[in-house]
Amino acid sequence: MNELTINGLTFEPYLKESEIMAQVERVASEIKADLTTPNPLFVCVLNGAFIFAADLFRALELPEAEITFIRFKSYEGTASTGEVTQKMGLTEDIEGREVVIIEDIVDTGMTAQKLREVLQARRPKSVKMASLLFKPASLTASVAPEYVGFEIPSKFIIGYGLDLDGAVRNLRDIMVLKETK
Ligand code: IMP
Ligand code: MG
Repeated sequence: MNELTINGLTFEPYLKESEIMAQVERVASEIKADLTTPNPLFVCVLNGAFIFAADLFRALELPEAEITFIRFKSYEGTASTGEVTQKMGLTEDIEGREVVIIEDIVDTGMTAQKLREVLQARRPKSVKMASLLFKPASLTASVAPEYVGFEIPSKFIIGYGLDLDGAVRNLRDIMVLKETK
């Protein structure tokens, strides 16, 4: 795919679908190796993580694993608002269960921290996080994701679930905002 201009911003190719799928498979096998119970609960963070979650959940090949959804929002346009709001909660009883949060990207880590607090309060056996992408240089929260597909620089990216104000989530590849020279 070539460059793409949307809302006046130009993006260039960054990670190909085939590279993404290879990391999804690796992350799935790492998670699987660490699980100690047959029916872990995966918690997909909407909206951004839905495509990664669909691929990761199938790659696990664990017939008794379950998946549920929670919704948080922190971004407007290409930057974090600094405030994380919960838009949709959990209905499951997670007490005593192994829980794995599925995120698209950890940037400041504020969403991740908030999520862990919300889930820990319900007394699960454990809470871990798998994030397809991680921007370590932007992290301000105290915990990093346990499973990471790609560590990337602090640039704005789109595609494979990641949006620009709701658009472009359906790109198969991931693209990065072009530096203005
Ligand atoms: P955090 O709370 O700052 O770690 O931000 C996490 C959320 O912000 C992610 O789950 C994404 O929804 C969104 N986000 C962070 N970086 C990007 C990006 O580069 N592109 C699109 N969305 C992003
Ligand atoms: Mg998100």
